[in-house]
Amino acid sequence: MSAAPTAPVSRPPSRAWSLLRELLVAQRREVIVGVVFLALSSVTAGAIPQCIRFASDALMASRAPRAMAFALAIAAFAGLGAWFRVASRLRVFNAGREVEFVLRERLLAHLHRLGPSFFQRMGPGEVMSRATNDLAQVRLLVGFGGLNLVNAVFAYLVNIPLLFMRNPRLATLALLPFPVFVFITQGFGRAMFARSRAAQDALGVMSERVQRVLSGMRVVRAYGLEASQRAGFDQDIDRSLEANLSLARLRGVMFPVLGLGAATASFIVVWVGSAQIITDPASFTVGDILAFQSHLALIAWPTIALGYLLSILQRGRASVDRILDVLEASPDVDDVDAAPVEPESLDGALSVRDLRYAIEGREVLAGVSLEVPAGRRVAIVGRTGAGKSVLARLLARMLPTPAGAVFLDGHDITRIPLATLRAVVGLAQQEPFLFSTTIARNVAFAEPDPDAPETRDKVRSALGSAQLMAEVDAMPEGVFTIVGERGVQLSGGQKQRVALGRALLAQPKVLVLDDPLSAVDTRTEAAILDAIDEASRGRTLVLVTHRVAAAARCDQVVVLDAGRVVEAGTHDELIARDGLYARLAERQALEAELEAM
Ligand SMILES: Nc1ncnc2c1ncn2[C@@H]1O[C@H](COP(=O)(O)OP(=O)(O)O)[C@@H](O)[C@H]1O
Ligand SMILES: [Mg+2]
Repeated sequence: MSAAPTAPVSRPPSRAWSLLRELLVAQRREVIVGVVFLALSSVTAGAIPQCIRFASDALMASRAPRAMAFALAIAAFAGLGAWFRVASRLRVFNAGREVEFVLRERLLAHLHRLGPSFFQRMGPGEVMSRATNDLAQVRLLVGFGGLNLVNAVFAYLVNIPLLFMRNPRLATLALLPFPVFVFITQGFGRAMFARSRAAQDALGVMSERVQRVLSGMRVVRAYGLEASQRAGFDQDIDRSLEANLSLARLRGVMFPVLGLGAATASFIVVWVGSAQIITDPASFTVGDILAFQSHLALIAWPTIALGYLLSILQRGRASVDRILDVLEASPDVDDVDAAPVEPESLDGALSVRDLRYAIEGREVLAGVSLEVPAGRRVAIVGRTGAGKSVLARLLARMLPTPAGAVFLDGHDITRIPLATLRAVVGLAQQEPFLFSTTIARNVAFAEPDPDAPETRDKVRSALGSAQLMAEVDAMPEGVFTIVGERGVQLSGGQKQRVALGRALLAQPKVLVLDDPLSAVDTRTEAAILDAIDEASRGRTLVLVTHRVAAAARCDQVVVLDAGRVVEAGTHDELIARDGLYARLAERQALEAELEAM
């Protein structure tokens, strides 16, 4: 996979086991009932060889009715055994599914809390493989692994004593090949794992390429890269094919080899057993030979499974570890269970006091302070890279805002529960993320039911405010137009306005708009600004913008440069001061003139 490899976290092996134990204990009912059924199914299965023995001995003595009675007993035991077997499997596999389900839920819930720093470390491909392959591996460990371990124990407990009771010498000889069995399957299991891993990886590489090419389709076309992408894809297919063939070859060899092992045990029984019948007919019978054969058959599969078990165990543990990498990652932004603040009790007065923020050791905000009274509008202006977007995200706690730096109505925002904060502070990001669904759903994303008819009116009005309604109406499907993967069907400006619509629809007390105009033309800009004026009435507005025309409408302008507030005041004051802001205004006025020519 092309995702950056994540450094393996060293953690004591007991973490993986204690997590598994905890999950299993929660499923104890299913597990216990499953184990009881497994025991019963082993007992009923073990009774059948004995019936075979009695039936054939009766037959040898020409007592046909007795033989028939044992035949009926075989049918009864077989029926009962099948039922127990199915029941045990359902229980134990259910427990495995249940464990997988619980773990998946935890994984998803935790992923929702993790921040950018985690996803920078672990790419989407890696996260996906943990949420799919590794979870499946855990299910295999608990379901298949657990079932076969317990099953093997019962099969041995029932069948081996019966063999030894009848003929210890032959039992010893016939069981000799079995440890070799375990050894061989273990080897096969390991090789099988390596090869199926290679096949899976090849598939992963291929799908990553497809995803990359599809999402970068425009670039591929623009630079005429189809042929080279195609060649790369062909190569991926070849690798995947080779990996799968090699896996198939291994499977093809494995079963005949195991068959050979089973045949060896049969050979020993018939050879040694026949010799004994000939020398001492009283001590051993044809029925015994048949019974030995079927007892051995009953422990053959559990023994093969035991060979697998070791690799399932190792892989399962490795998978639990990889899942723990996600579950134990700490979120960038910690939620608090401080005394909850009711969203209704907040007016939306923002106060930033000496806010400092560093990214990778580099100071991006070097002590920013500003005050926005509730219901007022502030513009944050500055060059690219000044720190405006970082400031906007910190205000909404989309990044780990330091404590004691940002206050909402006097409450430190790091002490406000996230759910409340998210309801009060709405952020439209500069590079918005769109889901590959309809425009309507993207705008009404935060609504309880984005498709409800009453939501639809809100969507239309929000899109109207964002000056996108006319363009959306011109699309064949209107608001139901699918925006494509991350919004590829839309232009940059349209995407921005969808995100703006999303923020406006929520009507939060504090609206933080990060450069909502960076990708729209001047005429649309004016209309959007009017709409923002309208929408922000009675709300606190933080408008990040590089446009003086937009800043001029705000009550207050804060100019940010290299992470510091270099100027602050009203538009008129700053123009009069003849600083950075005034120069920016001059240049933009000039550009407007040039444009008009
Ligand atoms: N995730 C990030 N990783 C590294 N550097 C970042 C990250 N986000 C922002 N920066 C840096 O922080 C500085 C401020 O960025 P930003 O707030 O986006 O500027 P702008 O004022 O253009 O919105 C820039 O130098 C940028 O390179
Ligand atoms: Mg920015």
